[in-house]
Amino acid sequence: MLTLGVNIDHVATIRQARQTVEPDPIAAAVLAELAGADGITAHLREDRRHIQERDVEILRQTVRTHLNLEMAATKEMVGIALNLKPDYVTLVPERREEVTTEGGLDVAGNLDYLLGVVEQLQSQQIPVSLFIDPDVPQLKAAAQSGAKFIELHTGKYANASTADDQARELGSLAIACDIALELGLRINAGHGLTYWNVRPVAELPGMEELNIGHSIMSRAILVGMERAVREMKLAMLGLPF
Ligand code: PXP
Repeated sequence: MLTLGVNIDHVATIRQARQTVEPDPIAAAVLAELAGADGITAHLREDRRHIQERDVEILRQTVRTHLNLEMAATKEMVGIALNLKPDYVTLVPERREEVTTEGGLDVAGNLDYLLGVVEQLQSQQIPVSLFIDPDVPQLKAAAQSGAKFIELHTGKYANASTADDQARELGSLAIACDIALELGLRINAGHGLTYWNVRPVAELPGMEELNIGHSIMSRAILVGMERAVREMKLAMLGLPF
């Protein structure tokens, strides 16, 4: 069954804008779960620009579904993950100047290093997902790394400016899913997914979980978290929302 991981980073971004205590991403996670979120995702960045260690520590104790910790593959973050024991970890590239995670992780170019990181985490029963572009060399390297999951970067699909471009990007994602399944990788996807573009991605072969933040939080500001999450679940199923 396809599941929805709700990314709550933006709630922490609003809090950090004033360096205060509200809104609390923990409350957002509770409401998202009550509305039917299947998982909660939080990205603890090296620069701590939104989610803080306090947040992931409390989320670990309060999340009743599953907690996906997004992080860079650094020594510091691996140490935090080994202590925290999230239900799974998604490794992402990080650049300080970026607004959000831009490209996928270069697994092929850093295979030796990532093999070690994956082994460290998975030997402690923390499954690893690698956030990658839908490219064959990256898929093959992801399989070689031993990671259980990939998260396919849907940014190019989401940002396509014409219907033709969007169809071509969806085609690349579909091919990537077929290859991933052949390689024995489990498949998540995310980045830039909205109420209007999510359905074709939801229907891709083998798709297990979609990680969505910006679009749900944008709607939640206007209509409330519970309605925003419920409506995304309907959109994923291709039902009116
Ligand atoms: N997946 C990954 C790996 C991400 O880095 C992000 C952005 O934090 C998302 C999914 C969610 O993207 P969006 O906020 O565009 O839904």
